[in-house]
Amino acid sequence: MVEFMLPAASRVVKGKTIKAPAGVKRVRRFKVYRYDPDGGENPRLDTFEIDMDDCGPMVLDALIKIKDEIDPTLAFRRSCREGVCGSCAFNIDGTNTLACTKAIDDIKGDVKIYPLPHLPVIKDLVPDLTTPYAQYAAIQPWLKTDTPAAPDHERLQSPVERSELDGLWECVLCFSCQTSCPSYWWNGERGYMGPAILLQAYRWIKDSRDEATGDRLDELEDPMRLFRCHTIMNCTDTCPKDLNPGRAIGELKKLMVERR
Ligand code: SF4
Ligand code: FES
Repeated sequence: MVEFMLPAASRVVKGKTIKAPAGVKRVRRFKVYRYDPDGGENPRLDTFEIDMDDCGPMVLDALIKIKDEIDPTLAFRRSCREGVCGSCAFNIDGTNTLACTKAIDDIKGDVKIYPLPHLPVIKDLVPDLTTPYAQYAAIQPWLKTDTPAAPDHERLQSPVERSELDGLWECVLCFSCQTSCPSYWWNGERGYMGPAILLQAYRWIKDSRDEATGDRLDELEDPMRLFRCHTIMNCTDTCPKDLNPGRAIGELKKLMVERR
C-alpha cells in the first residue's frame, strides 16, 4: 500500500525548550532542527528563547549565541559571517538562505531553522554536500586553455568581456538554489547537475579567456545533466546573493540549440 506519511523514524518530534532567564524583556523564540544519525532517535525541534537585547541582529548571531551559551552540542557550519563563504546556508523561515545575512527582525513569529532540504543530514544543521561537490568537480571549474600564456603579462580581458561574468562570479556556492529545486531533489543523484553547478558551468563558458567551450558544452549535452531543468525558478527566487541561476541555465540551453 502507498504510504503518504514519512516513515515513523523520520518524523520530526517536539524537542526540549530552553526558556530565557527571568526578567528578560525582548525575547525571540528559535526552533532549531536537531538530529544525530548515530543516536538512533527521531529528529526533533528544540526551542531556544533568546534575549534580543544581548544578541546580534542576524540569524547566525542567534545560532552562535545558542551554541556558545546554551547548547554546545548544536552543529552547524559557518565561517565568514559576511555572506562570502557560503557555508551558513539553512532553510530559515521556509526559505533557503544565508543565516549571516538574514536579519531576525525580517522574520515574523518564531524563527524556524532547518538544514538545507533533501540532502542527507550529518548532524543537526549540517547537510552532506558530497554529491554537489562531486558535481562541481565534474564541470572542471578552472580556466582551461591550449594557447600558451604570454611570458610578460596575464591573460587579458577587455572591460566588456569582464563584465560578461557579472552575475556569475559572485556565486558563493551556498547551494541554497540547488536544494530548493524539485528537479534536483528527485534527480540530483541520477545526474541532474542542479542550478548552482550549471551557473558555475556557464561562468566558465562565458569567460573570454577559456578555450574549452566546446568540451564544456559536450559534457552537458545530456538529457539528465542540463535538460532536467524544467524552469521552475525556485533557484532564482531563493538565491541570497540575488543571482539568477535560472537565467544561466536558459543561456546554456540556448547555446546548445545554437551550436546545432
Ligand atoms: S547561485 Fe546563489 S543560491 Fe545558488 S549557490 Fe550561488 S550564491 Fe548560492
Ligand atoms: S558565514 Fe559565510 S556566508 Fe554566512
